[in-house]
This record gives sequence, structure tokens and C-alpha cells, in this order.
Amino acid sequence: MKYKSILITGGAGFIGSHVVRLFVNKYPDIRIINLDKLTYAGNLANLKDIEDCPNYQFVKADICDFETVRDIIRRNEVDAIVHLAAESHVDRSITDPFLFARVNVMGTLTLLEAARQVWEIEGWEGKRYYQISTDEVYGALQFDGTLFTETTRYDPHSPYSAAKASADHFVRAYHDTYGMPTVISNCSNNYGPFQFPEKLIPLFLNNIRFRKPLPVYGKGENVRDWLYVVDHARAIDLILHEGQVAETYNIGGFNEWKNIDLIKVLIQTADRLLGRAEGEDLDLITYVADRKGHDLRYAIDSTKIATELGWKPSVTFEQGIELTIRWYLEHQDWLDNVTSGDYLQYYEKMYGNC
Ligand code: NAD
Ligand code: DAU
Repeated sequence: MKYKSILITGGAGFIGSHVVRLFVNKYPDIRIINLDKLTYAGNLANLKDIEDCPNYQFVKADICDFETVRDIIRRNEVDAIVHLAAESHVDRSITDPFLFARVNVMGTLTLLEAARQVWEIEGWEGKRYYQISTDEVYGALQFDGTLFTETTRYDPHSPYSAAKASADHFVRAYHDTYGMPTVISNCSNNYGPFQFPEKLIPLFLNNIRFRKPLPVYGKGENVRDWLYVVDHARAIDLILHEGQVAETYNIGGFNEWKNIDLIKVLIQTADRLLGRAEGEDLDLITYVADRKGHDLRYAIDSTKIATELGWKPSVTFEQGIELTIRWYLEHQDWLDNVTSGDYLQYYEKMYGNC
């Protein structure tokens, strides 16, 4: 499918910025609109290299603002929406569940309804609404080798995953009720450049550089399936253009790591790159109280996207994690900027407070 004007929400965030960069560079003839509220997690510095491209446009807006969103879709003749904007951090959802319901559920519904009101009049032909979801909606697996497939029943446990699951149900409802051409993908844990340092990998790398404690939740035995963010962006591109309407695609790396083992890789690699004795910082590991409702294990079966759409990761985990660790250690200014909060004041001056 060829689109004229693609609206990407949350394009200033971690994954969104990689999707925007890929699309702006790959599709010079398509208008790429990045709609982002620039919360603490949104950072236009993530997009410095493409901000002057003629096919790129940034709009500071809130996905919960119905009229603004509808106006943006109508005025720009948007024919495809890739919806990434969300509150994304599980720990924050435990302390502020209302925020997660507002943004992840009501924000998604607002976007769906705004798109419906414009597209139903224009006709559904050539339109696509693409929901970026997560493997967390499937709940938790035991250590029994099973994997989440596209038919695994939704069983969310955290306020974050409950809100994401609810949003996905609305997306399916818009397809079933109104005939909106929708598609959903559920991805595992992403890693790579530009991730806000509240998430495990950038938080721990930032702490290692200052020799600060590394707070391991519980016994560090929870398992996550890690995928390099650029490979997620490539999968999103493929699904947007070649995925089937009303289908779901799981995206993952067949790459399970126990947290504590991954943390040891981070420490040993960072120590080497920082010229410290290998393993010198292992004593920073500090076991702390477990996350409430901490899901034991996530693991994605991505056979469907591989066999039906021909997707496969472009880097191995060893390559991706080395690239990632190097990137954070070489971009300490980026880490300092986002941890100081200076960038938020800058955006407020530039774009006001919406
Ligand atoms: P992120 O927190 O880095 O970025 C979220 C972006 O959304 C930010 O730029 C933020 O400013 C924007 N945003 C938040 N509220 C908004 C609002 N009300 N209006 C407009 N913009 C708003 O998140 P991420 O890790 O890049 O995740 C992006 C999407 O991918 C989310 O939907 C998340 O659920 C999903 N996902 C993430 C992962 C992962 O490992 N990070 C894995 C699977 C799925
Ligand atoms: O699985 C996909 C999900 O991955 C996405 O939907 C979420 O948006 C994204 O944030 C991520 O969720 P996680 O909760 O898995 O990611 P996080 O980096 O917060 O934690 C990874 C694991 O590390 C998890 O088991 C909790 C643990 N952890 C995390 C932090 C921040 C720690 O032990 N200590 C920490 O300080």
C-alpha cells in the first residue's frame, strides 16, 4: 500500500523517533507528520538529523484533544496513522494509573474516533490505522518454554498493560463496528539509542558511569525478550505497508534474558569500554523490593511476521547490545540533558504548554 500522508503519534519518544527517522529517509515523497505532546519522555533532540527534511513536519499536540487531532488528520489528508504515543513505563503506571487510562485508553479512542469522522466521509479505501501494542497485554509466562502467539488470550496485570489491552480492544471494535482498516502489532522489550533512562538498560548504563547502585527488582530472575529498536521500526514499516487488515503480528527477537544475566553483560561491556577492570562494577548490583505484580516471563513467537511478511532482525543481540552500550557511553550529553530536565524548559519556551 502506498500512502500520501502518514501521521505518527509519539514520534519524539524512543521507538517513535526511530520510526520517524526510517520513514522520513525511506519515503521522501510521503509527508511524515509527527504528533507528540512532548511529555518528559518526548525529546526532539532524538530527531535532530531529520528535522529539516522537507517531507517532515512536527506538531506539538495531545492525542486526547479530539478537535485538534481531527483537524490535523483532515487538513493534512492523512491516510495512515501509526499510533505509538503512550505512557510507557510500568513503574509509573503503578503510582498513577489514572494517567495511563487517560492517555493510553482515552487517547487511543480519541484518535480512532477522529480518524473515523474524517475517513468514513472520504471512504475507507486506501486508509490504515496501525496500533503499536506490547507483549505485556498477554500477561506472564512460566519457565516452561511456552511463547506468546497472536492467539494467546489477553491477560494484562499492570495498569500499563491493562490500559494498552483496553486500547487494543477499542481498535478491534472500530474494525468490527465501523469497518475501519486496522492492524495491530505486539512487540517485546526494545533496546537501543534514545530510550529514556528510567527503563532498565539506559538507567543502569547511566548509573554505571557514575558508579551509582543498580536497583535489581526482586531476585533479578524475571525474563524479558529483547529486540533492537531499529528492527522493531523495520517491522512496523513492513506491517504498515504489507500487513493484512484486522490482523495481529507479534514482533520479538527469540532472545530471552534473565534480568540479572543481562545486567552482568551491561556491566562487563561498559567496564571494558570505560577502560575499567572487567567486572569492577559488579558490586553496584543492589537487590531491592520487587515491582508490584511483576510479570515473571515474556517471550514472543514471531514466526507469523517472519513467514508471512519476510521480516527478520538485522542485527544479532551481541551486535545490538554492543552498539547500544557504546551509544550511551558516547552520548553522555544526551543522558545529562534528559536527566537534568533542561530540555523540558526549552520545549515549553519553543512550543508553549499544551
Ligand atoms: P516513550 O515513553 O519513549 O515515548 C512515548 C511518546 O509519546 C513520547 O514522545 C511522549 O511525549 C508521547 N506522548 C505521551 N503522551 C502523549 C499524549 N497525550 N499526546 C501526544 N503524545 C504523547 O515510549 P516508547 O518506549 O517509545 O513506546 C512507544 C509505544 O510502543 C508505546 O505505545 C508502547 O506501549 C509501545 N511499546 C513499547 C515497547 C518498549 O520496549 N519500549 C515495547 C512494545 C511496545
Ligand atoms: O515488553 C514490552 C514492554 O517493555 C513495553 O511495553 C514497555 O513500554 C517497556 O517499558 C518495557 O516494559 P518492562 O517493564 O519490561 O521494562 P523495564 O525496562 O521497566 O524493565 C525491564 C525489566 O527490568 C523488568 O523485569 C523490571 C526490571 N527492572 C527495571 C528497572 C527500571 C529492574 O530490575 N530494575 C529497574 O530499575
